[in-house]
Amino acid sequence: MGPLRRESALPRLGGLDQVQTVGGLTWLTNHMRRVGMFAAEVADLVGEDQIIALFAGNYHDLGKWQDLSVFQKSGELTSSQMKAVRLHPGLGADAVRGLLEGCLDPLSLEEVVKAIRFHHKRLGGKGYPEGSEEPTIYAQIVGAADLIDVFLNGKERPYLDNDPKTFKEMEKEIQEEGFSSSVVAGAKALLRDLFNETHQGNNILRAQVF
Ligand SMILES: [Fe+2]
Ligand SMILES: [Fe+2]
Repeated sequence: MGPLRRESALPRLGGLDQVQTVGGLTWLTNHMRRVGMFAAEVADLVGEDQIIALFAGNYHDLGKWQDLSVFQKSGELTSSQMKAVRLHPGLGADAVRGLLEGCLDPLSLEEVVKAIRFHHKRLGGKGYPEGSEEPTIYAQIVGAADLIDVFLNGKERPYLDNDPKTFKEMEKEIQEEGFSSSVVAGAKALLRDLFNETHQGNNILRAQVF
């Protein structure tokens, strides 16, 4: 008898187009990896801890796995689907606490958890979850990195219909989003850096290569 073969649950991969749709998950894992890298770069630019920013970015949307179909839908969401969207930061934060316990020191882990819980919250009360708590510096860093990835790679996501924006429009959105002045400065510097690389003969935005 020959060796046992286990049938793969995944379809055979025929090319990048297919890779991007395997189980509907690849766009999300790619997005989280890029946000992790962007967050670490913004953290460096504003003098914060890159490891905390990297972990928080890498796992910030983990809670979307609770019901991925909501996040793959195009068009308007129902109120119960909207509720599911608003739950993803809290679900992800709780899951990451268990996942990373023992990998990070307790204080860093708490910062990662808070960054995930509040990555859609903005200064002045905008965003979610509801409540008076302001986003921490790492929550803002991840939020800014998330916004940059939506600008650059939003087309990957089935539920976003992003028109391309000019550099100036992206800068304006970052400025007005509700981040502290230091996070705004760091995010704008990273955006400028990403665009400079593009315009120096490297035709692929760094954001799109992994
Ligand atoms: Fe999110
Ligand atoms: Fe995200």
